Amino acid sequence: MKKQLGAKNCLYPLPTVLVGAQVNGKPNFITMAHVGIVDPGSVSMSMSKSHYTNQGIKENGTFSVNIPGTKLMKETDYCGLVSGKKEDKAKMFKVFYGALKTAPLIEECPINMECELTHTFDFESHDIFVGKVVETYSDEEVLDSGVVNFAKVDPLLFVMNDRGYWSLGRKLGSAWSVGMELKRKKVPP
Ligand SMILES: Cc1cc2nc3c(=O)[nH]c(=O)nc-3n(C[C@H](O)[C@H](O)[C@H](O)COP(=O)(O)O)c2cc1C
Repeated sequence: MKKQLGAKNCLYPLPTVLVGAQVNGKPNFITMAHVGIVDPGSVSMSMSKSHYTNQGIKENGTFSVNIPGTKLMKETDYCGLVSGKKEDKAKMFKVFYGALKTAPLIEECPINMECELTHTFDFESHDIFVGKVVETYSDEEVLDSGVVNFAKVDPLLFVMNDRGYWSLGRKLGSAWSVGMELKRKKVPP
């Protein structure tokens, strides 16, 4: 029997990322889980207006999305516990810049995306930022013939219910493929 839980958002797990922005001329990183794909070339982020990072994104029109592996769990959690208003969080990382010049990227994260802000939606408590990915950087070690292997990236997944960090499980099948058998038999889903 189904039990009603009330209006609970259960869209978890989500990858935990470190979003970078240049704030007051210095790099700052914020931990974010409410990040999504708007279209194949764009990402969205739901960032509370109380955070320090927002002003840098608005000022420069740029930001970065860095994907940490599970071995960066403590540093990632720290960037979600402490505000750049009080601490220089960037000093924990080797920071580099790409073509956009104002989107700080983290060397220690196996995947980095440089983004240009395209839209800002003014929600009551959150800024919804949408950005176009203009360049992506990857550690060679996580590539298989030039393609990112997410098992090697070992992303840090976040679940709100238990406020937990989780890791990726095993691959179960191929998308747009395992269902072909049912499609051929014309069995309703
Ligand atoms: C696992 C985790 C996920 C988080 N996800 C978000 C999020 O999606 N949106 C948000 O506004 N804050 C999120 N936070 C909170 C910010 O990371 C935190 O308040 C941070 O200290 C703000 O940094 P800043 O003031 O330097 O910008 C998250 C924190 C943690 C630990």
